[in-house]
Amino acid sequence: MKILVTGGTGYIGSHTVVELLNSGFKVIVLDNLSNSNIEVLNGIESITGVRPEFHQVDITDKISLKKVFEYNGDISSVIHFAALKAVGESVIDPMLYYRNNILGFINLLDVMIGSNVLNIVFSSSCTVYGQAEELPVTELSPVKEAESPYGYTKQCGERFLNDLSAATKLKSIALRYFNPIGAHDSALIGELPIGVPNNLVPYITQTAAGEREILTVNGNDYPTPDGTNIRDYIHVVDIAKAHVIAVQRLIDNATVENPEIFNLGTGRGNSVMEIINVFEKVTERKLNYKIGPRRAGDVISIYSDTKKANEILGWRAERDLENMLLTAWNWQKRISNVKN
Ligand code: NAD
Ligand code: UD1
Repeated sequence: MKILVTGGTGYIGSHTVVELLNSGFKVIVLDNLSNSNIEVLNGIESITGVRPEFHQVDITDKISLKKVFEYNGDISSVIHFAALKAVGESVIDPMLYYRNNILGFINLLDVMIGSNVLNIVFSSSCTVYGQAEELPVTELSPVKEAESPYGYTKQCGERFLNDLSAATKLKSIALRYFNPIGAHDSALIGELPIGVPNNLVPYITQTAAGEREILTVNGNDYPTPDGTNIRDYIHVVDIAKAHVIAVQRLIDNATVENPEIFNLGTGRGNSVMEIINVFEKVTERKLNYKIGPRRAGDVISIYSDTKKANEILGWRAERDLENMLLTAWNWQKRISNVKN
């Protein structure tokens, strides 16, 4: 079975490509390399022994996208990761996000349906819930008005799947990720943010590696036990494995809703200070950090109810926070040449 993975050299995409190859799928990787590096393919090849077919294509370029589908007449399904994901940047340049994430996705869906490729797994986000009134959030918790253009592109993506599933033979699964962190056990692939990281864990690991001077904790006066924000951190390999199950479910024609929507989290919430403490414990290092002001747009607290994915997909997050932070650190040590 041939699977096209858009954004396949990116962080979650590359880990998913590895799990797909390990499960015996043939994989075609498509990426414009705007936020990843071609060398990621070397890491994938070292781990799996397979170098997947690669196309450097931008999904906003419909003609080139179509050529990939014509060249590979037997694609069974698409896993769609390709998107820009920096919330702050999307507020500054909304058109960039609308063009890339919305126009790109429309092109992809159009080419897929035109080529009779009718299975898609879509990367959605817990950002669709905003600050939920009740925790944990289930898939039936209300979707709040998007707080950023980025969040809006995820809501639009889910809406496109909804409308196209009703009007065409498209079958889809939308996976709402909570906070993916960590790296492959081999430390051969991991998260590679370009420029200054926005996300917590790459900022922590870069600070520990001496590439950033100090981590700023974005506020410790929230109404949480230690005053810092709570999130549901989940290992990227657990997320990747859920995609293999989801795509197989589409191939097996086993979906019972269209689209099917699943939360991908651990069901546990951890505060920023807990993340710092566990990182210091597993790496036996002191992290240089200070308390700063709140960051605009941060929700206070969110974590998932994972019952639906547990019961219907038969999937469960297996890795704990120690493993998430240790693998993230091992990856950072390798790319930053940290010796001990
Ligand atoms: P990433 O930036 O590492 O990967 C995305 C990949 O898509 C990159 O390799 C990039 O070069 C590529 N890409 C971007 N625009 C493209 C275009 N127009 N054409 C072709 N390729 C393009 O990000 P990630 O963390 O792996 O995220 C993957 C998906 O998951 C995204 O859709 C993101 O919005 C979603 N998501 C991520 C998180 C997270 O915390 N990482 C949380 C929720 C949802
Ligand atoms: C953010 C986005 C979310 C997106 C996800 C992936 C917002 C509001 N949410 O999630 O929509 O899907 O990234 O890109 O931007 N923190 C610090 N110091 C730092 C960095 C982060 O204290 O230097 C804190 C944050 O304030 C937050 C927690 O760490 O409380 C997690 O932050 P982050 O990793 O950016 O993820 P989210 O904000 O949850």
